[in-house]
Amino acid sequence: MDAHTMTKPAVLILLGPPGAGKGTQARMLEEKFGLVQLSTGDLLRAAVAAGTEAGQAAKAVMEAGELVSDEIVINILRDRMAQPDCAKGVILDGFPRTTVQAEALDALLAENGQSINAAISLQVDDAAMVTRISGRFTCGACGEGYHDTFKPTKVAGICDKCGGTDMKRRPDDTAETVASRLVAYHEQTAPLIAYYKARGVLNSIDAMGDIDAIAADLGALVKQATA
Ligand code: AP5
Repeated sequence: MDAHTMTKPAVLILLGPPGAGKGTQARMLEEKFGLVQLSTGDLLRAAVAAGTEAGQAAKAVMEAGELVSDEIVINILRDRMAQPDCAKGVILDGFPRTTVQAEALDALLAENGQSINAAISLQVDDAAMVTRISGRFTCGACGEGYHDTFKPTKVAGICDKCGGTDMKRRPDDTAETVASRLVAYHEQTAPLIAYYKARGVLNSIDAMGDIDAIAADLGALVKQATA
């Protein structure tokens, strides 16, 4: 199954705590299935960098590791989903994160005659997440994500994908902020696992293994969910 054989645009949700590998896996699924990765974290960071009103409101909240208001995030997501490229199907990475956001997504999809193919919970141990996040860096040119130990660049300081040399580390990737982000996940986002289970679209995968092995499991699941 690829993008050409899908009957209507697929909607996939990746659920998981900070560092679970949502971004890493979403980028791999994007390449494999021709879907569009929609990361509300990336959209918010772009709004912060552009200095928009939403970005100014979000900046301090993100740096504290707390959740940005539902209103801001839902508006950003709705605008992005209205772009023509989303007709290829989307992988939601980091959205929804609250029940209010999940209900807003249901309403938005219903307006467009769409529905969720699968909500996939990436299951990980909290303890490993601090190690994953504290070693993370990203290519400033193409956004490819790396890790000092688990996914280093082939040549130090040079992006494997685009040859870029401007590597970035996120200001919220400190051990202290990761602790707040994990609390926010368990209190506000983890209840969505039951929300999607009740709707019959929940799938779970073990995301503690090696990146390529997880990608293979996830690819098989997505193939089945979009058939
Ligand atoms: P966001 O950008 O979404 O961050 P997050 O959910 O905390 O997730 P991360 O990006 O940290 O982790 P990830 O799961 O994508 O892991 P990755 O693949 O990079 O959100 C940031 C902030 O924005 C939030 O705190 C909040 O303030 C705000 N926000 C965003 N969306 C919001 C919403 N909907 N509502 C309200 N506020 C919102 O992997 C991590 C590292 O581990 C990488 O270095 C990677 O190379 C490595 N790695 C990945 N997989 C493996 C593996 N299997 N083994 C070893 N290493 C691995």
